[in-house]
Amino acid sequence: MSAAASLPHDAARQHVSGSARYVDDIPTPQGTLHLAFGLSSCAAGQIRSVDLSAVRACPGVHLVLEAKDLPHANDVSPSAHDEPLLADGHVHYAGQPIFLVVAESHHLARRAARLAKIEITDEPAILTIEQALAAENRFEDGPRIYTKGTPQSAMKGVIHRLQGQINLGGQEHFYLEGQAALALPGDHGDMVIHSSTQHPTEIQHKVAEALNIAQHAVRVEVRRMGGGFGGKESQGNALAVACALAASFTGRPCKMRYDRDDDFIITGKRHDCRIDYDVGFDDSGRVQALEFTHYFRCGWALDLSLPVADRAMLHADNAYDLPHVKITSHRLKTNTQSATAFRGFGGPQGMVGIERVMDHIAHSLSCDPAEVRRRNYYPEMSSKPAARPSVTPYQMDVTDFILGDMTESLLQRCDYHARKAEVARWNASHALLKRGIAFSPVKFGISFTLTHLNQAGALVQIYTDGSVLINHGGTEMGQGLFQKLTQVAARSLGAQQAVIRASATDTSKVPNSSATAASSGADLNGMAVQAACDTLIGRLKDHVAAQHGVKPEEITFAEGQVTAPGLVLTWQEVIASAYEARISLSATGFYKTPEIAWDRIKGAGRPFLYFAYGAAVTEVVIDTLTGENRILRCDILHDCGASLNPALDIGQIEGGFVQGAGWLTTEELVWDASGQLKTHAPSTYKIPACSDRPEVFNVDLWPGRNAQKTIYRSKAVGEPPFMHGISAFLALSNAVAACGPHYPDLQAPATSEEVFNAMARARGSAS
Ligand code: MTE
Ligand code: MOS
Repeated sequence: MSAAASLPHDAARQHVSGSARYVDDIPTPQGTLHLAFGLSSCAAGQIRSVDLSAVRACPGVHLVLEAKDLPHANDVSPSAHDEPLLADGHVHYAGQPIFLVVAESHHLARRAARLAKIEITDEPAILTIEQALAAENRFEDGPRIYTKGTPQSAMKGVIHRLQGQINLGGQEHFYLEGQAALALPGDHGDMVIHSSTQHPTEIQHKVAEALNIAQHAVRVEVRRMGGGFGGKESQGNALAVACALAASFTGRPCKMRYDRDDDFIITGKRHDCRIDYDVGFDDSGRVQALEFTHYFRCGWALDLSLPVADRAMLHADNAYDLPHVKITSHRLKTNTQSATAFRGFGGPQGMVGIERVMDHIAHSLSCDPAEVRRRNYYPEMSSKPAARPSVTPYQMDVTDFILGDMTESLLQRCDYHARKAEVARWNASHALLKRGIAFSPVKFGISFTLTHLNQAGALVQIYTDGSVLINHGGTEMGQGLFQKLTQVAARSLGAQQAVIRASATDTSKVPNSSATAASSGADLNGMAVQAACDTLIGRLKDHVAAQHGVKPEEITFAEGQVTAPGLVLTWQEVIASAYEARISLSATGFYKTPEIAWDRIKGAGRPFLYFAYGAAVTEVVIDTLTGENRILRCDILHDCGASLNPALDIGQIEGGFVQGAGWLTTEELVWDASGQLKTHAPSTYKIPACSDRPEVFNVDLWPGRNAQKTIYRSKAVGEPPFMHGISAFLALSNAVAACGPHYPDLQAPATSEEVFNAMARARGSAS
């Protein structure tokens, strides 16, 4: 079985039959207690008094904890120690946990939590970007500025100039499995944690800090998540630490899961933001000078906001070679949920900024928007040594650019030009329904921008029956990482796929892992698994060579057969005899990404090993009476290098597009004037349903190989396709533009209301 086979997700049958176990499905020992937080109802203020007598008096309640009861660190922050598990003195957003109830059942704990009497002296809350700017309320970082060329002086000589602004809403992760954790107390204070987390090692660290025990005393296990999407990089810390504390106090197993509304109200989401632009360009639409200002609403605590806002800056160029550019980024502090990682990690926001600019330029010149984009592309990898510079705004050379060829191929296979003409004909003869079509490219940088995170370990164990258990630091959240890595192991060992199994992620098997994030799961852990397999194969070849009098280099392991001149053995025979010969059948592997180096303060270096590319064309229709709209068709051509598993990769691309389109169209988060999140359930927050996927949905993989030496020359796929959703937003903008002469200035999310209002702007009839 080759590594590139389109095998289904290893747990696909369990997923659809309901037998896949998530944290809440793990059979719990007798005596397990259940936890719930008591939350702040106010966005900002000082806690005057907390009366928990009614909570404590509730039958079935075993323990109630406040900040002052915590024996050690009261902190669940992944970055800056600024995020108390339980509020101490002040509350910083509506929904912040103030106390913890430990009770006989989930419902009892939740009901008891409502009985608290808490007095808070309200302070003025800073909720919006404008309020944070007026109050100069920001994190002590920046504004960060990246510059290339001399944008200020270049702007003086430009031929055309446009200014604008786009507001981008946030996004709730809406993983199907909510946040959950289970803590099992062990011998001499040891703790075993089951957590729905992308970052088991960080859970281990935060639990060790909270209990003041060594990291070796905490073991974290993650079988799978029912989706993470970045929302489980840091947001699981609070539940795991709460469970560990309660388990340590009571000596009993403790479990916590958020109800869906609590999950919305407590946890961080995608950063909403405002992007201002000022662009100069020539008659052909080529950008001459460009200034972006990013305003990111980070919420009350730092969490991962700095690297998220950095990554937005790192994608402010997307696919375009901008000669003179300045990007300024403000990281604003507000009394709202602490915004966190979400698929693309700031990249999507940065990319929408430049795609809006391209759209605006094309509209103002009445040029084909796809053509304007192509004119601004970086030079193609295949072309002769570039005459013009091909360096990003952060001084990294772009040497692997393939979007010129990909764009040509996609526009042809989806018949872009003919369909564009057809859309124009339709719009000329239909007053009520207007169509729109748009193209957008993706260039997404692969690697953690915090360089030291780009490392991974693996442990591969072969048992005497020939079965193989691989362990690695990555976590499974539905993306198919485990299946890809068993395929890597099968190919590296030359064993049959059926003998390989991936264990649950376990901090006691592979230590010091990074979060499964930045799309790097397969890149990093795949190489670590391969390294461990190579060590084992080396030992096995030496053993077979010694036993059968052949040379190690003459021996081949393939598909469960071991062959050499005059010799055919089965994998099982070789393993059994290696065991008897006392050959070690377990090995570790390690990988660190080469060549990257990055200075985030200067904004210069090589943050990424390579770029993943893709291109999309989406067609939509809008109802001009109501603003309602549908995606009619989407065509995507995406670059996964030499795909490790085309079926899983296509699944990531389809899901990514739909999730990206949801962010920019129907998913709207609404806070009221007092800072309460009003959209905290599917009744008021609209994620795409099956019926919202495009009626025609063609996804193809670009038949290339990674120019870098990644695992079997594949490319990361988790996040990049999310940004194909931008084409749906641009197609809506294009449809709205058919309603009148003016640029529609569509804002995101482009809900029906927003589409409706944008039509008025296009007509020039906006009030
Ligand atoms: N796909 C599914 N089904 N579920 C998820 O939670 N998370 C995305 C992406 N695809 C996610 C997903 C995010 S945010 C990332 S960073 C990557 O998967 C992480 O996995 P990888 O590094 O193995 O690609
Ligand atoms: Mo993904 S946002 O890097 O977890």
